Amino acid sequence: MTDTIYVLNGPNLNLLGMREPEIYGSDTLDDIAGMLEDRARELGVAVDVRQTNHEGHLVDWLHEAQAEGAKAVLLNAGAYTHTSIALLDAIRAVRTPVIEVHLSDPKTREPFRHLSYVGMAAVQTVEGLGARSYIVALEAAAAL
Ligand code: DQA
Repeated sequence: MTDTIYVLNGPNLNLLGMREPEIYGSDTLDDIAGMLEDRARELGVAVDVRQTNHEGHLVDWLHEAQAEGAKAVLLNAGAYTHTSIALLDAIRAVRTPVIEVHLSDPKTREPFRHLSYVGMAAVQTVEGLGARSYIVALEAAAAL
């Protein structure tokens, strides 16, 4: 059976492409999903790319990733990265490895972005590479 890697995206990432392109680039989330599907095929894995603006959906999907036997989760939790103890607890609660992803490099931005609850529990963080952050994270997940 082909391994599946969940790619979970949080708030405002549905607006990629038009949202602050000077920070996040001009690729839409659909563009990124297409790139991930192409690379996943080459790596012999499958991706399940999702986006929500709701914190609890991300928690539910982390639980689902474990229940469905996903190989790993790539998680760009958007601003919930910096606020959500619920996501920290959810990542700690599941055995599925989670790789934190960001298009920008939050550590070089406003001080309120320097704290990452997701990063406290993730096995790895890939950030600051624009859309390529997702590809590098996918390669790392496929190699786990
Ligand atoms: C982001 C960085 C976060 O600080 C921000 O709230 C986002 C996007 C990124 O991909 O660079 O929504 O996660």
